[in-house]
This record gives sequence, C-alpha cells and structure tokens, in this order.
Amino acid sequence: MKRVKFYEKLLSEIEADIEIVIVINGNFDQRFVDADRELLEEAGFGAEQDETILLPEKRRLYVGADSIGASDIRAACASAVRALGSKNYKTAKMASYLNHPKCTSVLRAQVEGLLLGGYTFDRYKSKKSDKGLHKIRISLEEYNGFELDIPAVQRTVEKGIISADAVNFVRDIVNTTPDDCYPETMAQIADSIAKEYGLECEILDTERLRDEKMEAMLAVARASRHEPRLIHLSYRPENPVAVVSIVGKGLTYDSGGLSLKPSDFMVTMKADKSGGSAVLGIMRAVAALKLPIELHGFVGAVENMIGGDAYKPDDVLRAKNGKTIEVRNTDAEGRLVLADVLCYAQEKVKADYLFDFATLTGACVVGLGQYTSGVMGWSEEPIQRVLYAADTLSGEMAAKLPFNRYLKKSLKSEVADICNISNTRYGGALTAGIFLGEFIDEHHRQKWAHIDIAGPAFVEHVWGENPVGASGAGVRLMVRLLEKLARGDSH
Ligand code: BES
Ligand code: ZN
Ligand code: ZN
Repeated sequence: MKRVKFYEKLLSEIEADIEIVIVINGNFDQRFVDADRELLEEAGFGAEQDETILLPEKRRLYVGADSIGASDIRAACASAVRALGSKNYKTAKMASYLNHPKCTSVLRAQVEGLLLGGYTFDRYKSKKSDKGLHKIRISLEEYNGFELDIPAVQRTVEKGIISADAVNFVRDIVNTTPDDCYPETMAQIADSIAKEYGLECEILDTERLRDEKMEAMLAVARASRHEPRLIHLSYRPENPVAVVSIVGKGLTYDSGGLSLKPSDFMVTMKADKSGGSAVLGIMRAVAALKLPIELHGFVGAVENMIGGDAYKPDDVLRAKNGKTIEVRNTDAEGRLVLADVLCYAQEKVKADYLFDFATLTGACVVGLGQYTSGVMGWSEEPIQRVLYAADTLSGEMAAKLPFNRYLKKSLKSEVADICNISNTRYGGALTAGIFLGEFIDEHHRQKWAHIDIAGPAFVEHVWGENPVGASGAGVRLMVRLLEKLARGDSH
C-alpha cells in the first residue's frame, strides 16, 4: 500500500531514501536537475517521456516528461514509481509540479500518477514482495518557483488520493478470477462500500428479478451455477445540484454462452465485469469526496456460461420494458443484461444524466484501438461532457462514435421487435450502442451516453499510468465529470 502526503516543508527539510525529479521537455536547466546534469548526459539519459534513470550514489531517480501537461506528468510519475518497484527504497520525496500559479490540476495528476503507478496485484502470488516505495512525500517547493496556496494544494492532494484509490480498488475487483468474484461477490463488495460510506444498497436476487420481469438478464444468467444479482447503490447528499444514474455491465465471466468464444478470445473475459466494477469505484469516490450530486449506481452482475439450461440463439426474450428480442448470438449478452438494468434504473430514478459503462464490443477496440473508449448516444450534450472529462480533465482517452438511422435498421428482426446482433459486419460498436438506445425512455433520451470501455479496461501490458491487466477505465473520467457538474459548470 502506497501513501502520498504533502508536507509544508522545503525539499531539503524532508527526509527520504530517494528523490524523484521530472525532466520536462528535455530541459536540463531546471533548478532540480542542474546538479546532476553532467552525470545524466554522460549516461545518455535523453529525458524521453517515461524514460527513467537511477543515480544510486546521488539518491535520485530522474524521469522524462514531454510537457508539464497533466497527462504527461501523470504518466511520468507512474513510471518513476514503477522503476523503483524492484528496489529497496521505502520513502521518496518530490517537488510539487504546477503549470500555473493558481491551477493545481498538474499536482493532482502527479498524486494520481504516483498512486496509480505503484499499483500491484499479488493476490495469487505465493510470495508477496515488500520491495518498492511505501511513502512518497511532496514538498511545497515548486519547480517553477510558484507560491503555493496551501489549503488549495491540500485539497487537491486529497482529491487525487481519493480518485486514485478508487481506481486501484476497481483494478483489484477486475483482476480477481471468476471463481473468486461472481455476482454474489460483487453484491457483497457493494454492501461493504455502502456500510463504509453510508450509502443505501439494494440487491435483487433471481426471484426479485423475476418479479421485475427482467427476462433478458435472467436468460443470460441461467446456465451459470452462480445466481445473478442486480445491485443498486444510492448516495443522497443534502441539496444535490443534480441527479445522476450510472449503470455498469458486470459480466463476472463471459464464455460467450452457446455461441462459445474461441479459446484465445475467452482469456481475459474475467474483465467483462469492468463496467460494473467501475460503477462501484465511482460510488465510493463520490461519497468520499462528498460531492453535492445525488448518485445512483446500478450493476447487472451475471455470469454467461454454457450448459443444458443455457439460453440459445433463436430464443425470443421479453425485456423489462416489454420489447421482445430475438437472440441470434449468445455472446452479445452484455446488451441483454444492460437492456433490463437500464429499464430498471430509469424506472427507479428520473435522472438528469444517465451514463452506462460496458466492455461491450470487440468492434470498439478494432475501431479506436486498445487505449480509447467509445462514447455514443442520441444527444450531443452528455457526450461532450464525457469527452471533456476524458481528455481534458482525467487523462483517459475517449472518442465519439456517431449514431445514424441507417445502422439502426440493421437490428431489425423478422420474429421479434429487435435482434441482439446486427445483420452487417460493420460498425459493431455502434449497433450495440443503438441496441441499448432502444431501452432508453423518452425522458432520458437527451440525457444518456453509453461508454464502451472494451479497449482500455484490460490491457496485457503497461501503458502510461496503467499496469498490466485491469486499468480502472471510466473511474477517473466519471469522477471528474461529476466534480464539474457539482461546481455547476456548463461544459
Ligand atoms: N464482452 C464482449 C466484448 C469484448 C471483446 C470485450 C473483447 C473486451 C474485449 C462481448 O460480450 C462480446 O462478446 N461481444 C461480441 C458481440 C458480437 C457477438 C456481435 C463481440 O464483440 O464479438
Ligand atoms: Zn459476449
Ligand atoms: Zn461480454
């Protein structure tokens, strides 16, 4: 467990085993770099983004960053902590980094990067390592020489810690194996968050789901030995400025069902619960930040398996809103679960905004690459909020995929109201999003955005501030969006 703390002290007054220094844009003239300039040049340190060099005898670690923008600093800090992950230094110190005297967004990125880069998942390792940093101390000394507004800085550090902790919490859930994390486990996690942060928590089991006429979700769950759960967490502060619902796909395993996935595609499908896990993490962060937003989190926790009781291609299912769905592929299960959960969420809560997170389609990964989420909907306003919160505020990457009415026709069914897959092999992320749109009611149509996190949620190598495996995609993005909404900013 890493800890970051801000100290009202100069760097020289802070004790630590090692000092971390960022070299920005190849600028070796900075006050903090000058001392070791010759050594660094001699060693051939080029200060490329995320490049690190350790000078043990000087007790300094240098890391490069392309700019003093938040994203570059976040990634550089993560790389620095990672580079020390196999070393024996326990405490590190750093200057604070700002790009403007009044704006602490880079400092927040710094804190996030340090905590996100320090993440490791060793639940299944028989030998746990004690190597790597335990504590990082940030000094009020600022490399540009800006005077810090101490209370503002303290708050920023606090916010950075809360959002990074939430991301790491989500990473732990997603990395957990399907045998150790199944729908009931997700419900237990939700319940413990509720107890710790004073949230309301309602869990619907199979019987309650039947009462609620959620046939689509129940069909997906049927062949699993683990019963499904619908989780509803609510955070209700006094005088909220807005009511927001977030919905997550929580497939604790997606084997594909009878439309079985090929072996190579099945590996990593424990991560199909990433959207639902993100919802749990966002609830936790928003409650910890005490944002003046009424927030409802809904998770459809289900396991998609095979067996004599499995739902089949050719089945017709009736979703909660009465629409009938022709199943043509049991591997397009996320949209079936979400159809019901979205209906339930809208019936329970008339929200000002409705966002859903899902590892919904491989097509989204093909279209945008592994690192970028796809954002969709029938209304520009919520989409733009997500895009701004992504690239500009949180450093997550997201891009809009535009709906159109021609693709909508590809979901037509001859026997039911709609098909669960389209009749074209093109635009798969969009047709999945358009399918979800059929379960959004009139009230929420202009307030909804769907975020396909299939790419960034789980990547099998290190990238930026993200480790191998679960990234916690969607958490920082949504927390920033809600913080902005809480401030009453229009986008
Ligand atoms: N969970 C998968 C989507 C996915 C693929 C997530 C790769 C992460 C990485 C989803 O349930 C699925 O299987 N979708 C199908 C839809 C198809 C049958 C229309 C897909 O993308 O192939
Ligand atoms: Zn699937
Ligand atoms: Zn899936």
